[in-house]
Amino acid sequence: MTLLTNHRILITGAARGLGEAFARAALRSGSRVVLSDVLDERGVALETELNAGWNGRAKYVHMDVSDRASVHSAMGSAVEWLGGLDGLVNNAAITHSGGKAMDAISEDTWDKVMAVNAKGTWLTTVAAKPYLVSASAQQGHGRIVNVASDTALWGAPNLMAYVASKGAIVAMTHAMARELGAYGITVNAIAPGLTVGESTAYVPEARHAYYKNGRAIQREQTADDITASVLFLLSKESGYITGQVIPVNGGFVMH
Ligand SMILES: NC(=O)c1ccc[n+]([C@@H]2O[C@H](COP(=O)([O-])OP(=O)(O)OC[C@H]3O[C@@H](n4cnc5c(N)ncnc54)[C@H](O)[C@@H]3O)[C@@H](O)[C@H]2O)c1
Repeated sequence: MTLLTNHRILITGAARGLGEAFARAALRSGSRVVLSDVLDERGVALETELNAGWNGRAKYVHMDVSDRASVHSAMGSAVEWLGGLDGLVNNAAITHSGGKAMDAISEDTWDKVMAVNAKGTWLTTVAAKPYLVSASAQQGHGRIVNVASDTALWGAPNLMAYVASKGAIVAMTHAMARELGAYGITVNAIAPGLTVGESTAYVPEARHAYYKNGRAIQREQTADDITASVLFLLSKESGYITGQVIPVNGGFVMH
């Protein structure tokens, strides 16, 4: 038995980066996983690669989290393939505003970042709700893990639209937990620190060093440092933890 044996999990933004790492970890932990993204070529290639190792336990679906119709149609396909839904990881996000002072960000950028990161988390959660309610009634657990960011906790400068959207995720996690608690669904967020990967390759060395030197554990953060927190929050065993935001950042921010 592993932590997520036979769990049915949907992860948004899972064609690359942390979402991909969460998908690999969830498969290792025994679950079946739907990976959703807008990067269809990478998503399909990843599905093929994962299924070679995990015997058909992964499926890719196109889902643009900022578009209600896309979310509902993809959620329908995902749930049909999975045969229900036990856990949702709201991971998809864009940064776009990185390295810019707040007066250098356009309204268009602001709106796009909010549409994917904040509205997207709301839309996917609404679409997943009936299936999580049903899983909770039948099996006693329904789980949502929102991916926030520690930038919203320490006030990272020159990242305003993104930080605002991640602050919204923190607030939504609290409110969603209260709203869905009656159904036995838990809602928590993780707040990773700056993590080495494709999406942060643009980040100047000075910001990497600032993080590294400010951590209790003074080294670079990788995706592997984060996956276990997500698996635990998806598991049945985490059932009395809800509405919490857990910084996973080597002790850079202590919440
Ligand atoms: N990497 C970090 O340092 C770091 C730190 C803190 C929090 N995070 C958060 O972790 C999560 C993953 O980040 P990452 O570093 O892996 O970034 P990433 O850019 O590698 O992955 C994000 C994924 O979301 C997808 N996506 C973008 N717009 C979408 C849309 N409209 N609909 C569906 N999918 C969409 C992208 O195609 C991509 O595959 C994000 O929520 C991010 O804010 C990352």
